[in-house]
Amino acid sequence: MFVKFKIKELVPIGAIRVKQKKMNEQEFGFETQAIRTHLEKTQFQEHSTPLYLSSSFVFEDAEDMRASFTEEKVRNIYSRFSNPNTTEFVDKVCAMEGAEAGYAFATGMAAIYSTFAALLESGDHIVSAGSVFGSTHALFMTYFPKWNIETTYFDINKPETIESFIKPNTKILYAETPTNPGVDVVDLELLGAIAKKHNLILIIDNCFATPYIQQPIKFGAHLVIHSATKLIDGQGRVLGGVAVGEAELIRKIYLFSRNTGPAMSPFNAWVLSKSLETLAVRVDKHCENALKVAEFLESHPNVNSVKYPFLKSHPKYEIAKKQMLLGGNIIAIEIKGGLEAGRKFLDKIKLCSLSANIGDVKTIVTHPASTTHSKLSVEEKLAVGITEGLVRVSVGLETVKDIIADLDQALS
Ligand SMILES: Cc1ncc(COP(=O)(O)O)c(C=O)c1O
Repeated sequence: MFVKFKIKELVPIGAIRVKQKKMNEQEFGFETQAIRTHLEKTQFQEHSTPLYLSSSFVFEDAEDMRASFTEEKVRNIYSRFSNPNTTEFVDKVCAMEGAEAGYAFATGMAAIYSTFAALLESGDHIVSAGSVFGSTHALFMTYFPKWNIETTYFDINKPETIESFIKPNTKILYAETPTNPGVDVVDLELLGAIAKKHNLILIIDNCFATPYIQQPIKFGAHLVIHSATKLIDGQGRVLGGVAVGEAELIRKIYLFSRNTGPAMSPFNAWVLSKSLETLAVRVDKHCENALKVAEFLESHPNVNSVKYPFLKSHPKYEIAKKQMLLGGNIIAIEIKGGLEAGRKFLDKIKLCSLSANIGDVKTIVTHPASTTHSKLSVEEKLAVGITEGLVRVSVGLETVKDIIADLDQALS
């Protein structure tokens, strides 16, 4: 039997559901929205949203099909366009970020690439923080120039210089905060004000903070991007990405993506939507552990410096406190002894994992200078905030004394 799927609160962005009516924020807290934003039940009255593993959806007749394709009817057509599970996942992220609309992608990089590709024309200019994730840096420096799209970097610690880089053809202002891997923080309110003054689209990669800790739209961001692969999944299982923000911009991103195919799979959306139900409680514990680990590392004789947003020693501590609820789970440390000491540290690690991911229940350590960024020159590494002795710790949910003991023995 064909189960009619009740879709509500849609505006015509394909089958993307737009949160028109805000859930009463006085009445419903973050956790309630994360748990109680869900699809209509089917006739089976299931308590947990089912997995809609279906590539396409059926029409009742020729007229239904015609009207669906012309978007007179807003509904699911094909899972490259939309799927009930991705809709649920996107709706939850929209509710958490205070966004009007969104689209879910196969990976965080698919979200970043598709957002830029949908919004930019040949001849446009981007102003971005220099400290961005390695693959985003590759988009800006290797691929976008092929289409005559130029990017100028500003120093994340000198946002007062941003305006001097803005040109008549600048269209997008872009930053991550906190940054990967340097854990630098930039003032979102300031970025929001600059974007408004110069009529730029402000896009924030909010992956390190998650929507639980920080909501950039409140500070003037037009779009927020996440790699859902990180804390949103939280258990190192699936890849995913999402872009949320103003409906008009999301409409362009949706149309680009509907034709080019970077969509999130229904299975990953189902996993990630479940993950969002426990995001707050997981992130609370991640941050509690991370603060304890950061305080321990700050007192360690073999550590030169520790960067964690909620340590008073962080250069942007006051800004972090203003815009973040908690400090996140990523710590950047500078080990005494540079490149060799960094490699030795990794070799001595016993409990924690040497892995490329972050935001997992398992604590992960990486040494960017000898791994992800080893092909860059010392100067290039420094330009994106990577020193030879920089170690990134993604603090997990193991018993915190065990995490500290492992880092301690590897440092000693
Ligand atoms: C800040 C940031 N943005 C984007 C990405 C890309 O996400 P994905 O690996 O899901 O493509 C990452 C991945 O590490 C990241 O750390």
